[in-house]
Amino acid sequence: MNTATSVPVACQQILPTRSINSLSEDVESGLLLEPRTMPPKYFYDERGSLLFDQICDAPEYYPTRTEAALLREIASEVIAAEKPECIVELGSGTSRKTRYLLDACTEQAWYPVYSPVDVCDEILVSSSESLQADYEWLDVRPLVGDYTAGLGNLPRHKGRNLVVFLGGTIGNFAESDARDFLAELRATMSPGDSLLIGADRVKQPDVLHAAYNDDAGITAAFNLNLLHVLNRELGADFDVESFEHYAHFNPLESRIEMHLISMCGQQVRLNALDQVIEFQEGDHILTEISRKFTRAQLERLLREAGFTIANHYESAGTKFSLVLAHPV
Ligand code: AVJ
Repeated sequence: MNTATSVPVACQQILPTRSINSLSEDVESGLLLEPRTMPPKYFYDERGSLLFDQICDAPEYYPTRTEAALLREIASEVIAAEKPECIVELGSGTSRKTRYLLDACTEQAWYPVYSPVDVCDEILVSSSESLQADYEWLDVRPLVGDYTAGLGNLPRHKGRNLVVFLGGTIGNFAESDARDFLAELRATMSPGDSLLIGADRVKQPDVLHAAYNDDAGITAAFNLNLLHVLNRELGADFDVESFEHYAHFNPLESRIEMHLISMCGQQVRLNALDQVIEFQEGDHILTEISRKFTRAQLERLLREAGFTIANHYESAGTKFSLVLAHPV
């Protein structure tokens, strides 16, 4: 890998089609009110993206490995069936799993453009450079932006587009937000386009629990990274050591909930907002939800958003779904 000198890659910015909250606004409406919440996208600065990558290698965190193995099995079939002229990946991160799709393209001598979309510029550049070095045919066009800010300005490549949304990130959205997001995505798609979406499935709670409470403490560091981000971006003075990672499966909502719990009573200053947050001992911030679907729930969600199911692939052991869907 990566023997060629990497070609510098520049990211194109995707302009939002609707105004989305700034970090300060998300803090105002999420962290300063109760229950305290923050959107999970703020985990993913450079350090957070690297920590997420380490989570994916943690023995307890099955989703990445399971999805990767499944994607590897089905990649040839998907590429042969869809013959995409462009692969657009939402939340591409380091694009590790995408390589299975690109390998299938190499095998079939089918050469689509690849447009990874991510919020993290640094990760996009380094992963694009490494892909470009490893796949000599590949035309990588990275797009930096927040896909929750509207998809209307997503540059559309002509011909058939395969939109890839992996990792089970759809599970980060509450039901109605997930439906709205997928419907919005559907609206950007044309006949001939397709969506390949990964979603985690409901399973034994102890397996779920372990996946979000790895022994090495990587998930804890990832969760706590939010506080580092707030310290840096908002001149806050969170004492990161005095917060604890807590993740559990909520069976009523069929989702993992990740929290940061204050271990003591404390005040945190947010310089940029000229605000102080008061935490009592045991107060918590909900930092992420990660929904676990049944096969039927997932298909219903996609149908409600305007898709038909072309193929629902699922892993043999630990359950995980990859659904190939077409716009109705
Ligand atoms: C990237 C959102 C799919 O919900 O499992 C991993 C993020 N959070 N461990 C997930 C995550 C804690 C992950 N997603």
